[in-house]
Amino acid sequence: MDFKSILTGWYKQNRRDLPWRSTSNPYYIWVSEVILQQTRVAQGLAYYQRFTNTFPTIYDLANAHEDTVLKVWQGLGYYTRARNLHNAAKLIVNQHNGKIPPEYSELIKIKGIGDYSAGAIASFAFKKAVPAIDGNVYRIIARIFGVFSLPTSAQGKKDFHQIVMDLMDKEAPDTFNQALLDFGALQCVPKSPKCGDCPFQDYCYAYRNNMIDSLPVKGKKLIPRDRYFTYLLIQFGYNTFISKRKSKDIWHSLYEFPLIETEKALSPNLLHKHKALKEWVGTKGYTIIYISDMVKHLLSHQTLHTRFVIIRIDSISKKLSQECTMVPTSEVSHYSTPKLIDNFLAAEPAAKYFLSPQDFH
Ligand code: ADE
Repeated sequence: MDFKSILTGWYKQNRRDLPWRSTSNPYYIWVSEVILQQTRVAQGLAYYQRFTNTFPTIYDLANAHEDTVLKVWQGLGYYTRARNLHNAAKLIVNQHNGKIPPEYSELIKIKGIGDYSAGAIASFAFKKAVPAIDGNVYRIIARIFGVFSLPTSAQGKKDFHQIVMDLMDKEAPDTFNQALLDFGALQCVPKSPKCGDCPFQDYCYAYRNNMIDSLPVKGKKLIPRDRYFTYLLIQFGYNTFISKRKSKDIWHSLYEFPLIETEKALSPNLLHKHKALKEWVGTKGYTIIYISDMVKHLLSHQTLHTRFVIIRIDSISKKLSQECTMVPTSEVSHYSTPKLIDNFLAAEPAAKYFLSPQDFH
């Protein structure tokens, strides 16, 4: 039996029934794929429902305020994906009459639609015979065919693309690509793949040569950069201060509290003396109510070490009035904030020390 027959045979028995598989609406398929680049199916399902309920058509997404889009995305991480999706939706509405183009070559021209999404939309929604190669597909192909190219290199991408194109079921490219994704997610998983009952056992290069753990080839691991944050949760009555991140850095467009970033961890002792603290709280006096322990938060290439400090003030500093928006503490949750901040707000110290309007009644 050839590759595609074995694969589709496996898929018939093992396929997952997922909502984006029972639609040919390219907008829904696109949304699902962007979410699934970010998270696993189990968590992605709830986000998919939430996103498509909030923005049922590409017009709803295009017309939405960016803050609303980021709020629905909150918790998924890598917010650039959500912003790209939003911008691409606007572009499609403005320049393509709201119609998502069916051809890979057109889709790839749209800023915000990458190689994988273009392939997924073209094949799943429009049945075009083009590959949709994500990490699952690299893993399967590298193992079964013994491909030692680096998937992240330009040459590697070409090699894998060519192999998948040669294997492709041109009659049913949608089923073929979906089957690869499920096979990677359920059978040929990264750690301890289920080789014992794998239908490719007889001709899998990695299995026969005991190289499951060496394929696909991995590039050099980047060592994450350490960063040290101190967030100031400043209380003025039952209000607090937030601002939108603007720099080309992590969390672009998300809201955060006034931040002091330092080269090294800032101890409570050093915090009292820090110039930036005085700038944020002003010279008219302040009371520190609570200082958290260091919280470690991992991003893909950075490790954040963060302290949260709850401070009460009686007058608003120039820096706060110039750089922040004042909002009731109870309304911070209406804004899209990084998961690190959400986690702190959901934990006990925030509930205990961070005053809300009820505390004033
Ligand atoms: N992972 C990425 N895209 C997927 C899809 N369409 N179905 C299942 N898993 C996926």
